[in-house]
Amino acid sequence: MAVRVHPEDACGLYPLRSECATIAITMSETTELSALLDKPEFPRSRHYGHDWMLENQMGPNAVWLAEWLSNELDLKPGMRVLDLGCGRAISSIFLAREYGVMVWAADLWIGPDHNWQRACTAGVADRVVPLRMEAHAIPFARDFFDVVVSIDAYHYFGTDVLYLSYLSRFVRPGGQIAVSVPGLMQPIGDQPPPHLLQPQANGSCFWENECWCFNTVDEWRDRWGRCRAVCGVEADCMPEGWRHWRDFERAIEISGTGIFPSAAEALDNDQGDYIGFVRLRAARTEAHPENLYDSGLGAQAGID
Ligand SMILES: C[S@@+](CC[C@H](N)C(=O)[O-])C[C@H]1O[C@@H](n2cnc3c(N)ncnc32)[C@H](O)[C@@H]1O
Repeated sequence: MAVRVHPEDACGLYPLRSECATIAITMSETTELSALLDKPEFPRSRHYGHDWMLENQMGPNAVWLAEWLSNELDLKPGMRVLDLGCGRAISSIFLAREYGVMVWAADLWIGPDHNWQRACTAGVADRVVPLRMEAHAIPFARDFFDVVVSIDAYHYFGTDVLYLSYLSRFVRPGGQIAVSVPGLMQPIGDQPPPHLLQPQANGSCFWENECWCFNTVDEWRDRWGRCRAVCGVEADCMPEGWRHWRDFERAIEISGTGIFPSAAEALDNDQGDYIGFVRLRAARTEAHPENLYDSGLGAQAGID
């Protein structure tokens, strides 16, 4: 018999419930969800409700990715953090709650209204500022942020070699820029691996044209390493990243909260040979690069 349960009730300190209806699942599915989602690798995330993470997901688990990223950051209460491409702002809420930082939760496709409701419900209305923002038109003062993070979003706009210079303008010298994205675990050349082009049982293929914005850790490190606006670039891959991604996809299937067709089968077939997560971090230098996305540049140079 289907019963309505709050799987997060078993999860302890921060029982964040979704603001929507709770997912209807059976008791055995609750056990299955716990097996998939209660991960010792992400101890802070275990305090957040399963249904909250599932109902607000936009693909891979943003809370896990935020925890993995924040492990390598120096975050102190009151720091100004930009969460760039925050989606439904669950990573922003996580950072505000866990570290007491002030987070500007900025996104293109998701407007600020629901993100504000989520921040209020999560008890961080004083620490999360939602806004709609396009990544090439950042409306903040130079050097404003102590930290910029971007979770499962940077690959949509950051593969342009000019982008990191632009972004760095909004971080104070010595501040941190950090990104976690889906990535390649080895180079693929000109053709995607055939098994990622195979249709899954649900009819969808993992590899879509947009996946060409996935890069290996070396490709990302090289790209960031050439940018004089940052230093101390470090990059690595999430151990067993494919497994965590697959498990979350399975949990989405069970809970019926999927927005896109599940990629669990393809990730399982791949076993992390090609697909996983990449993490990058760097510190801002004193360099002050031009804003090459500024439409007034021609006039400033006296040629328009
Ligand atoms: C896959 S979603 C991930 C959202 C969220 N970080 C998460 O992990 O749940 C990618 C996000 O990147 C954002 N994005 C893509 N292009 C962008 C751009 N040019 N400027 C700002 N955000 C962008 C989208 O609005 C979208 O919410």
